[in-house]
Amino acid sequence: MNNMTSPAPDYLDLSDPARFCDSALSLLARGVRDRRSAFHVINLATLSPTGLPRVRNVVLRGCEPRHALLVFHTDRRSEKFQDLGTESHAEIAAYDSGHKLQLRLAGPVRLHYLCDRAAEAWAHMTANARAVYAHSEPPGALKAKDDAPAPLLNDEAAYQNFVICHLHLRRLDILFLKAGGHLRAIGTMNEAGQIEADWVIP
Ligand SMILES: Cc1cc2nc3c(=O)[nH]c(=O)nc-3n(C[C@H](O)[C@H](O)[C@H](O)COP(=O)(O)O)c2cc1C
Repeated sequence: MNNMTSPAPDYLDLSDPARFCDSALSLLARGVRDRRSAFHVINLATLSPTGLPRVRNVVLRGCEPRHALLVFHTDRRSEKFQDLGTESHAEIAAYDSGHKLQLRLAGPVRLHYLCDRAAEAWAHMTANARAVYAHSEPPGALKAKDDAPAPLLNDEAAYQNFVICHLHLRRLDILFLKAGGHLRAIGTMNEAGQIEADWVIP
């Protein structure tokens, strides 16, 4: 890593592969609150019960590198909920063109619904955010032929559909498209957020 011709950016620590991964995760964390961040919406990849790949966008609701945790929300009736059943794993991919940074992060997923954690998150959600879960038909169901608006569920019934997904980060693959020489690190993360990583060929 000594043949770099352009200065290190102030948003990434290039001194060591683990610190590089850590600084990339700090940038990802900004995407939780900043709707304009390229990391506010991430690609979530799962495997269907029949082993087919499925990928879609989800909003990044939480990023806690110290707990090796990413959080997103979904509907209990969705296909991704089926994919994220017991013992499932998922991977996210995100690219911030401004920072020239790609993150691929993977690990096991745990689903939380109809529990204290879900109730607390629900209590802090706006009516608009809750309305996403209030469709009487599941995501992906055919619309009625007459296109009549389907009745909405009441708030309590909508809550039954609300799921918090925790992606426990275990594998990290970070690529920085650095002028003069791309940098990529692959690593692992433990439950306490400690990273072990190596530089690899991009
Ligand atoms: C910008 C954007 C943000 C989205 N955020 C979410 C989200 O946070 N949770 C979610 O379940 N679906 C979200 N969706 C919808 C999914 O991408 C997807 O279309 C839907 O959930 C059905 O996916 P599934 O059939 O794989 O479960 C979002 C879509 C877009 C375009």
